[in-house]
Amino acid sequence: MSKTIQAVRGMNDFSPNETRLWQWLEQTIRETFAGYGYSEVRSPIIESTHLFKRGVGEATDIVEKEMFTFARDEESLTLRPEGTAGCVRAAIEHGWIYNQEQRLWYIGPMFRYERPQKGRYRQFHQAGVEIFGIANAEADAELILLTARLWEKLGIRQHVKLQLNSIGDLEVRTRYREALVAFLQQHLDVLKQDPDSERRLTTNPLRILDTKHQVLQQVLNDAPKLHDFLDDESKAHFNRLCEILDAMGIAYEINQKLVRGLDYYNKTVFEWVTDALGAQGTVCGGGRYDGLVAQLGGHATEGVGFAMGMERLALLVQEVNPTIALPRAVDIYLVHSGEGADLAAFRLAETIRDALPTLRVMLHTSGGNFKKQFKRADKLGAKIALVLGESEVADNTVVIKDLFGQSEQVTVAQSTLINELSDRFSQE
Ligand code: HAM
Repeated sequence: MSKTIQAVRGMNDFSPNETRLWQWLEQTIRETFAGYGYSEVRSPIIESTHLFKRGVGEATDIVEKEMFTFARDEESLTLRPEGTAGCVRAAIEHGWIYNQEQRLWYIGPMFRYERPQKGRYRQFHQAGVEIFGIANAEADAELILLTARLWEKLGIRQHVKLQLNSIGDLEVRTRYREALVAFLQQHLDVLKQDPDSERRLTTNPLRILDTKHQVLQQVLNDAPKLHDFLDDESKAHFNRLCEILDAMGIAYEINQKLVRGLDYYNKTVFEWVTDALGAQGTVCGGGRYDGLVAQLGGHATEGVGFAMGMERLALLVQEVNPTIALPRAVDIYLVHSGEGADLAAFRLAETIRDALPTLRVMLHTSGGNFKKQFKRADKLGAKIALVLGESEVADNTVVIKDLFGQSEQVTVAQSTLINELSDRFSQE
């Protein structure tokens, strides 16, 4: 026998059970975005490598070591590691944001060559939102309110916390960077214990604030504070955002060490984090990127957005609510046996689908006695079995059996079946 072929490391298949959870998750996300008037955009999974180098930043982990890059016709191409750069590229290319406000969202797979573990994969999925053309903090606040509402709908509101920071403009960060580097140079002995941070001292020092190394974390408590360097405009922007969040009852923690791993941010950055998932606790991250559109060749247009990791959300939903009631795969299972019953069952199933298109109706098609057929209906979790035997076919009736045992089995005329089903399912 030849060796079986397995999925690529860090890339997942989704079973029928998992996709039920995901469909519910996606549906809830779509409805929430729509509820704020956002429009969906779709763009390719493959983009020119330049886009991410220029957009996300050469000195980021993503560009330095995590991209799936390959060459075709002498062009360097990359599987998108995130959605913002592609969204901005498309928006510029098609004039979606030229002199106008836009509220856009997207959903789909992203690719990063990271070390796989629970909550961290090489192919993962993000749902993201980008607002263009609004400079003030109201846009930032709207995004946070939207996410808070979504957590509520997903039943995870009590399990996530909002972390907030302002990283100012480029000039602020340049001055802060100098101060931070000068500070860290006095602690090179500790820095050397954490090779990633040591490397970042020259490439991307602000990211050192993110270190997981405990001794270094302690040292950083005495480091210069970014907020002491903030320009007046960034300060006012941040204060306004906090004011709106306070007024709207959204709790947050200001985390001056939060700088995010992508280079395009300015002013607001935020993350929603949970303790329930171990090391990969950030379920959603975002911020403002007022310079990115111009940097990618468009007219200067402000931007702010976020993306959430769908795998992490799915894990969290299951963690906090293991018995979550998902929509059933099958509402009605139609069993049949005897002369003429198979065709009658086909007709009846189509009639129900015509009249009640939201119900999930499955027809038994693989023969066998009633016992076997009922077993199948139970396994699928159907609420109702409809039974057609020879006598039912002869007198145009059908048996309704409630598989959850909520009502007695009854025989009804086929002509009244639709009303009967409609009553039973409308009560759910
Ligand atoms: P990010 O923080 O790199 O931001 O990713 C957003 C979210 O995607 C993370 O918080 C996490 O939940 C999820 N995620 C990231 N990497 C992985 C992985 N390897 N496996 C599973 N989940 C992962 C961005 O991508 C920005 N584009 C967000 C943004 C949009 N900022 C402004 N607009």
